[in-house]
Amino acid sequence: MKIAIGSDHGGFTLKEKLIGYLRKQKFAVKDFGTYSEESCDYPDFAFPVAKAVAAKKFARGILVCGSGVGMAITANRLKGVRAVNVNNLYTARQSREHGDANILCLGGRKITAKLALRILGVWLKTPFSGDERHLRRIRKIDQR
Ligand code: RB5
Repeated sequence: MKIAIGSDHGGFTLKEKLIGYLRKQKFAVKDFGTYSEESCDYPDFAFPVAKAVAAKKFARGILVCGSGVGMAITANRLKGVRAVNVNNLYTARQSREHGDANILCLGGRKITAKLALRILGVWLKTPFSGDERHLRRIRKIDQR
């Protein structure tokens, strides 16, 4: 599975940990930056990752900022993107099973790295249920 990842300064440290975990698990990861804790603007990283996922160049995307909020707001502007700001394991699983979420947004200042890694593991391995009612709802999002 090819994964695109990006962060702002508030998510940089967590992003580096997530990349280490993903590479260890043999995922193909492309890092879209940022590359330090120097202050920057989350849309500059959210849009390139979201565009790459919307264009299906990557199966999934991961975006990390301080809260995960700015990244999710930005990524969801693009058609075909279903970005979710996840803080617990229930939402990690549900967002995949029901929403076929393709971008995971995490808050580096909001949750521990340990929880973030557990969320990521669940989110990556949970398949979309494929149920007709969920497909119908997702189609309605893209039809707008
Ligand atoms: C940056 O200070 C912070 O606003 C950003 O990382 C993010 O949390 C925005 O939602």
